[in-house]
Amino acid sequence: MSKRIRRMLTAPATAPNIAPLLKSSPVQLDSLYSLIAADMQAVDAVIRRRLRSDVVLINQVAEYIVAAGGKRMRPALVILAAGALNYRGEHHHELAAVVEFIHTATLLHDDVVDESDLRRGRETANAMFGNAASVLVGDFLYSRSFQMMVAVGNPRIMELLSEATNVIAEGEVLQLMNCHNADVDVDEYLRVIRFKTAKLFEAAARLGGILGGASREVEQGLADYGMHLGTAFQIIDDVLDYSGDEGETGKHVGDDLAEGKPTLPLIHVMRCGTSSQAEVVRRAIENGGREELPAIIEAIRVTGALEEARRRAAAESANAKQAISSLPPTQYRDSLIELANFAVARRY
Ligand code: IPE
Ligand code: IPE
Ligand code: MG
Ligand code: MG
Repeated sequence: MSKRIRRMLTAPATAPNIAPLLKSSPVQLDSLYSLIAADMQAVDAVIRRRLRSDVVLINQVAEYIVAAGGKRMRPALVILAAGALNYRGEHHHELAAVVEFIHTATLLHDDVVDESDLRRGRETANAMFGNAASVLVGDFLYSRSFQMMVAVGNPRIMELLSEATNVIAEGEVLQLMNCHNADVDVDEYLRVIRFKTAKLFEAAARLGGILGGASREVEQGLADYGMHLGTAFQIIDDVLDYSGDEGETGKHVGDDLAEGKPTLPLIHVMRCGTSSQAEVVRRAIENGGREELPAIIEAIRVTGALEEARRRAAAESANAKQAISSLPPTQYRDSLIELANFAVARRY
C-alpha cells in the first residue's frame, strides 16, 4: 500500500462539498426533483447500503466520490419515467441506484484517462488516492451494480444494462482513439457522445418504461427521449469545458483541450474560422496542453462556436421532448420536459 493511500485511510473523512452543485442556474434541479424527493432519498439509502465492502479502501474511495454529490440525473430519469407510467412496484429504487453506480464507475475511470484532478468541487479520486485505486474501485462499482441487477432478476433489464455498459466502454475507447485527431468531424463526434454518454440516459429512461409496463412504442419513445437528452447534455458539457465557472461546474475549464479532445466547439472553429484560427485549433488538438487556451477561447468567441453548439443542444432537447409527447400528461412528464430544458440551460 502506498504511503499516500495509508495517509488517506487514517485521515478523518472530509465533509462533502456540494456547494458547486447548488449555485444558481436558470433551471434548478432541486425544484425539478421535488416531485420525487422521497424516491430520491430512498435511492440514496440504497446507494449507501450497497456501497459497503469489507475492504476499507473500497469504502473510502467509493464514499469519497459518492459523498461529493453529483446531480443524480440518471437515477432521477428511471424514477420519473417509471412514475410517468404509474409504476407501483418495488424495484425502481434498486435499479436507479444500479444506474448511478454504473455512472460513478465511468467517472472514476474517465478521470484517470483524462488525467482530471477536479470533480464535484473537490479533488478527483485519482488525484486523492492514485490511478490504481480509482480504476479498481471503478471495477468494484461495475461488478456491484451487476450483482444488484441480477438480484432483481429481470432478463430484459439485464440485457439492457449490460449492453449499455458495454457501449459506454466502446465510446470511451473510441474517444481515446480520436484524441489528438483534428480530422474528427461532427458525425464522428456525435457517435462518440452517443456511445459514451447518451447511451446511459437512454437506458435509464427505457428502464423506467420497462418497469412501468410501457407498450413497445412508448418504451421506444422514452429511449429516444433519453438518447436526445444525453446528447444535449454532453454537448453542453463540452461547451462548459470552455466557458463554465469552475465554482459551479466543480470541474476545471480546459480539461478537454489539455487532452487534445476534438469536441464540437473546436470542430466548429476548424470548419468556420479563418485559416489561421483553424490552424491554431488543429495544432492545439494535435499537441494537447493548455498553452493555447487563451487563443482558442478567443477563436471560439469570434466564430460563435459556443452559440452554434448550444443551438445543436437545443435541437436535441426539442427532439427529446417530442419523443415523449405520447406519454399521458402527468407531473412526471412535465418533469421530464423540464429535465430536457435543464440539460441545455444548465451551468453545472
Ligand atoms: C459527468 O456527468 C460526465 C458526463 C457525461 C459529462 P454529470 O455531469 O451528470 O456528473 P455528476 O454525477 O453530476 O457529477
Ligand atoms: C464524459 O465525458 C465521460 C463519461 C461518460 C464518463 P467527459 O470526459 O467530458 O466528462 P467530464 O467532463 O470529465 O465529466
Ligand atoms: Mg473527463
Ligand atoms: Mg467534460
